[in-house]
Amino acid sequence: MEFLQLFNLTFIVVVLYLIVRLLISFWISPARTYMKLKENGFGGPTPNFPLGNIEEMKKISTSSVASASSGSLGAVSNDIHSTVFPYFAQWQMSYGKVFIYWLGTEPFLYIADPEFLRRMSTGVMGKSWGKPNVFKHDRKPMFGNGLVMAEGDDWVRHRHIITPALSPATVKTMASLMVDSTTKMLNKWTSLLNSGCLEIDVEKEIIATAGEIIAKTSFGIGYKNGRQAFKKLRAMQITLFKNNRYVGVPFNRRNSKGGYPQKDLLGLLLEENHEEGRLGKTLTLTTRELVDECKTFFFGGHETTALALTWTLLLLAVHPEWQNQLREEITQVTGNKEIDFSMLAGLKKMKWVMDEVLRLYPPAPNAQRQIRDDITVNNLTIPTGTNVWIDLVGMHHDPNLWGEDVSQFKPERFDNDLYGGCNHKMGYLPFGFGGRMCIGRHLSTMEYKIVLSLMLSSVSAISRACVFPLWLRDCVIWKIIESTFDF
Ligand code: HEM
Repeated sequence: MEFLQLFNLTFIVVVLYLIVRLLISFWISPARTYMKLKENGFGGPTPNFPLGNIEEMKKISTSSVASASSGSLGAVSNDIHSTVFPYFAQWQMSYGKVFIYWLGTEPFLYIADPEFLRRMSTGVMGKSWGKPNVFKHDRKPMFGNGLVMAEGDDWVRHRHIITPALSPATVKTMASLMVDSTTKMLNKWTSLLNSGCLEIDVEKEIIATAGEIIAKTSFGIGYKNGRQAFKKLRAMQITLFKNNRYVGVPFNRRNSKGGYPQKDLLGLLLEENHEEGRLGKTLTLTTRELVDECKTFFFGGHETTALALTWTLLLLAVHPEWQNQLREEITQVTGNKEIDFSMLAGLKKMKWVMDEVLRLYPPAPNAQRQIRDDITVNNLTIPTGTNVWIDLVGMHHDPNLWGEDVSQFKPERFDNDLYGGCNHKMGYLPFGFGGRMCIGRHLSTMEYKIVLSLMLSSVSAISRACVFPLWLRDCVIWKIIESTFDF
């Protein structure tokens, strides 16, 4: 009897404890942050418990999709902010470029004001930024605690080890395998068209090729294993499968002699890891961390570059004059020889095109942070724990920063200007900012130039004939079909 009473009492105490924990996490602590933010003068849409502003976001999106789909199919507008993130565009009109909104019980400080961002980030080192806990949990199957999600000293250690593996000097050795994968894709298209195929899903093809390239550059795995790993990782990405598995990552990296045969990213990381004498014991990655970094390379590294290439094809279809300029440049630079790393620096106009595509259609449309220590900006305090949502698309499409031609495709704005004429240096951030800037930007620029050069050299004209938009969640996906390519 006494045992039963003790058991019941323990049970009640445990349940009460859990209820209090839940209340603190989901109610008291977010409400406290909310009050602090309000006291500091930040405005924003009123949240409802427990969904925050999610319902309102859905409602605004639905009505925006309805009005977009009633529009003309033929018209291609680059003015995407109000269609892709209609709720932000709408809230900006009521609350300005810095405000609070809520995803569930999590408050987010929305920022589309580069000067506010500059002031907020001045003095905060890369390692002092947090990443929102809510995303860490949600994206764990994709990134684990890889560089994208790591914080503090862990982030410093990971970044220190990975940086040499993705330096310009290292990635140049990967050019020839990018040429191989792209040539294979283009040969496949030619035989598909020759055998009467009427439709090529270019976006899917480019994503698969970019996946193969990143599988080869990251893990040194060949075509067959690469495709298998790619399929599995893609499936995981799409379903955000919660079960944490080591998918497609080979562990037995050492050959029988104990060496590292290939200079792929994983091989380079293992080498860095192996040289304990040089980096010191504390600067190594565990097997779990290596696996997380490989997944991070894969997820961070293939779709971003593939999206940039797909949008480029669409924009070149709409702007044949730029196709001609790029073709001329490629011929001048390569002299009709096979492209290699030494030629890439000469592709200047292609770099302007890339910069303009990343401005209009940034593959990473936002950056997120979590405040780990109160930050004061313009006498306003952003309290610890606040999540930050930096709207890169919003800034890249802001006429106040870029001028009235903000929605036009004008690569020449990047001629001799790293910021494309933007009137604030933090208004153009396709690769992020500060110490946490994209570590794969050299690799992706090289891949972009190689893939696009080979495509433009083998396809005589990309026409506008059959380009139509499909809506997929909050992203506009374009399908470019057969008659777009004129071999
Ligand atoms: C066009 C291609 C790419 C774009 C537009 C892009 C964009 C970005 C952006 C905006 C960030 C900063 C995110 C933040 O501040 O929260 C970032 C970080 C990162 N990117 Fe990329 N990325 C690209 C290609 C790649 C590639 C090819 C790789 C790897 C091979 C890669 C790996 C990473 C990693 C690991 C981080 C986290 C860096 C850190 O927090 O220290 N990215 N990327």
